[in-house]
Amino acid sequence: MVNEASSAEQLPEASLAPNGAALAAEPAPPRVLAVANQKGGVGKTTTAINLGTALAAIGEQVLIIDLDPQGNASTGLGIDRRSRRYSTYDILIGEAGLHDAVVATAVPRLHLVPSTIDLSGFELEIGQARDRAFRLRNALAPLNTPAPGAAGFSYVLVDCPPALNLLTINAMAAAHAILVPLQCEFFALEGLSQLLRTVEQVREQLNAGLTIHGVVLTMYDSRNNLSGQVVADVREFMGPKVYDTIIPRNVRVSEAPSYGKPVLVYDLKCSGSEAYLRLATEIIQREKELCAG
Ligand SMILES: Nc1ncnc2c1ncn2[C@@H]1O[C@H](COP(=O)(O)OP(=O)(O)OP(=O)(O)O)[C@@H](O)[C@H]1O
Ligand SMILES: [Mg+2]
Repeated sequence: MVNEASSAEQLPEASLAPNGAALAAEPAPPRVLAVANQKGGVGKTTTAINLGTALAAIGEQVLIIDLDPQGNASTGLGIDRRSRRYSTYDILIGEAGLHDAVVATAVPRLHLVPSTIDLSGFELEIGQARDRAFRLRNALAPLNTPAPGAAGFSYVLVDCPPALNLLTINAMAAAHAILVPLQCEFFALEGLSQLLRTVEQVREQLNAGLTIHGVVLTMYDSRNNLSGQVVADVREFMGPKVYDTIIPRNVRVSEAPSYGKPVLVYDLKCSGSEAYLRLATEIIQREKELCAG
């Protein structure tokens, strides 16, 4: 069962400042990954929720930022609207601090900053401000200096809206790397060049260290010949940036959000859950390589 999420203020210090044990060492700042693709319905939110859950399941401390006014990541994690006292919108406009807006989920080690429809007004309200592209980066800054006696989150996953708008630019300006879900369908590569151009512009103008972490192929259907062709095309275009793990189309994955649960909680043994666990392992491995190189 998904419990009603408690607000951050009601949580013991340790849940906001996880890993209490490893205090002696300087806690490393979290890695911030933006889950982005301006195409709608390609699996961004599903990936943010289930990759986040899988990373938490293998011991990482994970914070998901719901940066989409649709609020699908919040709903899919069982955070009902009444529990969204402070939201991503509030932290972006400076109405609340990050820690005020963090809520626990039913998954141990997985927290969320929920979103509400208010977020759709962000661009109009903040679009002229000088720091408009850095609102998220600034809001996340407290994560880099956890309170004394506490280590912080190890991963922040930002679930972007289906647009290359100011919200997505904020995610790219705040992130170390971008994770791009691509649906295994005929038009998979459509729009990818535009996304890559935007990443390049953000790198030049806002965030010199930004990289593409990887491309994750989603909703693969082994009974459909086209899926195999799309995998081959995407691998040819993006080379080793494409993760080995491919997420299959799996009805359990699509059912889980209506129960407010990640698929790993809804049905741990299904092919979708297994794939997201493999993806989490692969991402941690790639992180080690990125940090070593
Ligand atoms: N592996 C999968 N198997 C079956 N259904 C899936 C899978 N991944 C995602 N879906 C379904 O596809 C739909 C779109 O997925 P999702 O909401 O994650 O995409 P999105 O890119 O976040 O969409 P949006 O652009 O609207 O934010 C949802 O109904 C989701 O349940
Ligand atoms: Mg989404």
